[in-house]
Amino acid sequence: MSMRLLITGATGMLGATLVKHFQKEYEVFSTGSSEKGLSFFKNYTSFDLKEPSYETLIKWSKPNLIIHCAALTNGNYCDLNPKEAFLINGISVKKITDAVNLDTKVIYISTDAVFPAELHMSKEEDCASPNSVYGKSKELGEFFLTNSKLNYTIIRTTIVGSNLNKTKSGFAEWILNSVKNKEEISLFADVLFTPISIWNLAENINQIISNNEMFSRKTLHIGGNEICTKYDFGIELLKQFNLPVNLIKKGKITDFKDRAKRSTDQTLDSSYYQNLSKTVLPNLHQTIKDFKINYNE
Ligand SMILES: NC(=O)c1ccc[n+]([C@@H]2O[C@H](COP(=O)([O-])OP(=O)(O)OC[C@H]3O[C@@H](n4cnc5c(N)ncnc54)[C@H](OP(=O)(O)O)[C@@H]3O)[C@@H](O)[C@H]2O)c1
Repeated sequence: MSMRLLITGATGMLGATLVKHFQKEYEVFSTGSSEKGLSFFKNYTSFDLKEPSYETLIKWSKPNLIIHCAALTNGNYCDLNPKEAFLINGISVKKITDAVNLDTKVIYISTDAVFPAELHMSKEEDCASPNSVYGKSKELGEFFLTNSKLNYTIIRTTIVGSNLNKTKSGFAEWILNSVKNKEEISLFADVLFTPISIWNLAENINQIISNNEMFSRKTLHIGGNEICTKYDFGIELLKQFNLPVNLIKKGKITDFKDRAKRSTDQTLDSSYYQNLSKTVLPNLHQTIKDFKINYNE
């Protein structure tokens, strides 16, 4: 019998790609808040994570492993709706741990945003002390897992990719679409990050699934191997797509007073995971190449 996976946030950017990737190998059950899943989903149910109990979801999917990708990811929305953010991003994890038995493994997708702005190349053992509601809500999710008796892996990452759900558009898609529509945009030249593509992350998640013992009850940083600014990322992306770069302006996050408190240094140090798994994570060029290969799938 193949392993049964439950993927939450399946209608989102990462979740949809994980369903596609893992359906080949595992028996995948997926869920999102939208009524309908994507056309290629085999077993999809709509489930609102604000529900008080997750028993029906767990009874339906009977998972050996849950990959919890669902979240409110819009930082500004989280700042304006902190209760909802804590409920969906944080307390959902407690409801998962309450609904499953101890044989079920949970992989929780967390974020660089659990770290404060002062930290550069944050390591796993650094103190998470988030500046934003979004970061705090994800830190809460981590807290419930690390204080549970479950077999878990927490993955803190910074992802870039494209949406199989064509009603959605992420950071890289927004850059491409704006330039194709001849709109001028500005990208932060004062924000550092270490992006990894969702396709590369999917492969690393599969490695974690296949080597359960090695990664059990661990928090791991899995990001790209090269530091860049959001501006650098945009320029590299456009060059790969042979699009003009003259519409991209250098912006500063500090010019946006009404923005959610997003750190100017979002970099993660992924060396612990790389040493443990003997994996070399991609640099910026490889991440963008990966994006180009998989963008129109
Ligand atoms: N994108 C990034 O830059 C980034 C960086 C670091 C970490 N992460 C983490 O990576 C994970 C995936 O991010 P993503 O960019 O793929 O997210 P996304 O595209 O915004 O998708 C979010 C998913 O969560 C679901 N969801 C939201 N509220 C829900 C609710 N009340 N009940 C059930 N499902 C609900 C959405 O369902 P519907 O679409 O059906 O409403 C959607 O499937 C998240 O945990 C995020 O914190 C993301």
